[in-house]
Amino acid sequence: MEKRNILITGGAGFIGSHVVRRFVNNYPNDTVINADALTYAGNLENLRDVESEPNYIFEKLNITDSEAVRAIFKRYKISHVIHLAAESHVDRSIEGPMEFVMSNVVGTVNLLNAAKEFWTSGEHVFHHVSTDEVYGSLGDEGLFTEDTSYDPRSPYSASKASSDHFVRAYFHTYGLPIKISNCSNNYGSHHFPEKLIPLMIHNILNKKALPIYGKGDNIRDWLWVEDHASAIDAIFTNGRLGEAYNVGGLNEWTNIELVRFLCRLMDEKLGRTEGDSEQLITYVKDRAGHDKRYAIDATKLENELGWKPSITFEEGLSKTVDWYLSNKDWVAQVTSGSYKEYYSKMYSDRN
Ligand code: NAD
Ligand code: DAU
Repeated sequence: MEKRNILITGGAGFIGSHVVRRFVNNYPNDTVINADALTYAGNLENLRDVESEPNYIFEKLNITDSEAVRAIFKRYKISHVIHLAAESHVDRSIEGPMEFVMSNVVGTVNLLNAAKEFWTSGEHVFHHVSTDEVYGSLGDEGLFTEDTSYDPRSPYSASKASSDHFVRAYFHTYGLPIKISNCSNNYGSHHFPEKLIPLMIHNILNKKALPIYGKGDNIRDWLWVEDHASAIDAIFTNGRLGEAYNVGGLNEWTNIELVRFLCRLMDEKLGRTEGDSEQLITYVKDRAGHDKRYAIDATKLENELGWKPSITFEEGLSKTVDWYLSNKDWVAQVTSGSYKEYYSKMYSDRN
C-alpha cells in the first residue's frame, strides 16, 4: 500500500485523541496530521504520549478558514481525511447555534472543497464522523438503522445532519470518495466534564450536587470511546465508499439509573459508605427539546466488517473512573478558568 498522509481533524478532542493515538501506533508507515483549533474542548495534553512519534504532526487549524484548510492539504499532500472537528455539546448549541453552523457545517464544506480540489488522481478516503442524533428521538421501542429518516431536533444535531448531507452530496455530485459513521454516546478517558459521565464523576469526587435534567428518564446508548475508535478504523479501512455505518453497543441506560450506578461504583472506589453519593442527586430544569431516547442498530457494521465492542459497560466505566482518579491534574487544568463561568451560567438558574 502507498504511504498515506492522513489528516485527522479535531484530534486534540475527546474522541479525536483516541483516534489519533490508534492511527499513530497502528500505522507507523503513514503520517498522521492532527489539525485542531484547540477550542475549550481541544487539549494537547491528551496526546503527550504520541507527540514525539516520527509519524505524528500537529497543526493548529481552524476549519472555518478555507485558505488555511487548502494550505494544509497542499503542504502535507493529504491523501485521506478522518473528520472529527466539531462543536459537540448540545447544551452549548442551545445557548449559541451559530458557532455550530460555522464549525460543523461551513468547516465541513471547506474540507470537502479542499479534497475535491486536490484529489484529482490516486486512492483517497474522506471519512466523516457523525452522530446518531441526526435521526432524532425514539419512543420506547425500535432502534436507529442506517435507513432511519433524518429528523434532527437540536441546533447541534441540525448542524451535524447538515454536514452529513453535504458529505453525501459531494459523493453523488462530484464522486468524492466518502464514508460516514453515526455513533451513539461515547464515554472514556479525556472526556471534557461538560458531558454527563465526566461531569458526574467530577461532582461526585468533589461532593457537589449531581444535576439530573427533568425526571432522569431519558435514555442514551453508551459506547466505550476505544470501541468507537476501532469502529472508525474498520470503516475507514474496509467500509464501502458512499456508505454510512451506525456504531453502537446495545447498551441503553436511563440517565438516573446510570448516575446511581456511577455513585455506587465511586462510593466503593473512594471508600465511602454506600448511598453517600446518591444523596447528591438533584433534579433540575430539563434541557429544551430534550430527545427522549437514542438506541443504535449496528448490525450492518457487525455483519460487513466484523466489528464488535470489546468490553462491557461495567468494565469500561470502572476503567474510566480509575482514569479520572489517577489524572486529577488533567481534570484540574480543564476545570480552571472558563469552565467555572460555563458551569455557573448553565447550572445556577436550573434548580
Ligand atoms: P470534543 O468537543 O471533545 O472535541 C472536538 C474537537 O474539535 C476539539 O479538539 C476542538 O478543539 C476541535 N474543533 C472544534 N471546532 C473546530 C474548528 N472550527 N476547527 C478545528 N478544530 C475544531 O468532541 P468529541 O466528543 O470528541 O466529538 C468528536 C466528533 O465525534 C464530533 O464530530 C462529534 O459530533 C462526533 N460524535 C461525538 C460523540 C460523543 O459521544 N462525544 C458521539 C458520536 C459522534
Ligand atoms: O448520541 C451521540 C451524542 O452524545 C454526541 O453526538 C454528542 O456530541 C454528545 O455530547 C452526546 O450528546 P448528549 O446530549 O446525549 O450527551 P450529554 O452527555 O450532554 O447528555 C447525556 C444525557 O444526560 C442527556 O439526556 C442529558 C442528560 N444530562 C446531561 C448533563 C450534562 C443531565 O441530566 N445532566 C447534565 O448535567
